[in-house]
Amino acid sequence: MARFDRFTEEALYGPNGFYTRGNNARPDSGDFVTSPETSNLFGGCIAVYLDRIWQAMQRPNPFVVVEAGSGRGTLCRDIFLSEPECKAALRYALVERSTHERETAFTNVVSTCFAEVDELPITALKDLPAGPLTGVVLGNELLDNLPPRVLQRTAAGWSELYVIDGRPDWQTAPQEAQNMASTLAPGAPPGTCIPLQLKAAVWVRRALNLLDRGRILLFDYGLKNTADFVDRPIGEWLRTYRQHRRAGDPYTDAGSRDITCDVAFDQLPGSPQIFLQRDWLLSQELETMTEWAREKWYESAQAPDTSAMAARVVLDEASALTDPQGLGAFLVAEWHVGD
Ligand SMILES: C[S@@+](CC[C@H](N)C(=O)[O-])C[C@H]1O[C@@H](n2cnc3c(N)ncnc32)[C@H](O)[C@@H]1O
Repeated sequence: MARFDRFTEEALYGPNGFYTRGNNARPDSGDFVTSPETSNLFGGCIAVYLDRIWQAMQRPNPFVVVEAGSGRGTLCRDIFLSEPECKAALRYALVERSTHERETAFTNVVSTCFAEVDELPITALKDLPAGPLTGVVLGNELLDNLPPRVLQRTAAGWSELYVIDGRPDWQTAPQEAQNMASTLAPGAPPGTCIPLQLKAAVWVRRALNLLDRGRILLFDYGLKNTADFVDRPIGEWLRTYRQHRRAGDPYTDAGSRDITCDVAFDQLPGSPQIFLQRDWLLSQELETMTEWAREKWYESAQAPDTSAMAARVVLDEASALTDPQGLGAFLVAEWHVGD
């Protein structure tokens, strides 16, 4: 018998875990398509953001960027290829728990961006580095992969989800977890399930302690308030994926699929500002970046040649990143540290 968060921890990151095995979690295998894997425009917008923060902070050198849950390193690659103004001061740490992903990412970024460079401005780490640092901590779709505890409202209080022999089992929750759940979702009717995202909260606290000055910027799917989970069935916000398709309940075949949970942003410490991904990308010059493609496409839409078709692809990618029913509805949380 295992508490759900411990079961999921093993299923994702244990010796045969979904992410440990690495080669399962490839975008080209279709397991997930994240914003960086959708378009290099995402990295372009983050490069614009990094320049703005660097300028606002009086151009610190070094300017450290820590990217947590960096996967195959696509975002890092696209940031460097965007040639931000802060590039000479930039020291970039890819932080990735999966050894397979981390090593692949490092090799990919070095061979694409730094083949001719003697002193590499990037490192690859298994966990957050030691602080204090001046710069930015970034993460795309990290928090949803930090396993939650799951509580269900009963007539008498709250019960907690365990997994026994491939089946879900609900047991009376410890009192402190019950208190937390009651505070986060007061008045929830019996049958309501909510996530308790303690691992995500602890991770954000560590990131906040890492910086002496700078920002934390995290992108993920989820809801602003835990109370908003109340009307949603558990299978809607606690999901599994294999090859880009929903893959049934999470309780069997540990390691065979991704297990992911919508993030309840109100459970994260430090009162971040929250934006919609769509608005945030548009505020970082996404439209300016795609202006050439719009012009090219309108010019040649009647008889498109290959360059017009390439422009169309860029416009489609920008639409996907800002789609109000898809990636555009993701939330962006930003914390300011030291100013
Ligand atoms: C859904 S993937 C996102 C990958 C990439 N950021 C992207 O957007 O394509 C989540 C990644 O976070 C990694 N991860 C999970 N927990 C982590 C932790 N505590 N520190 C660093 N990486 C972690 C996983 O191994 C996985 O590669």
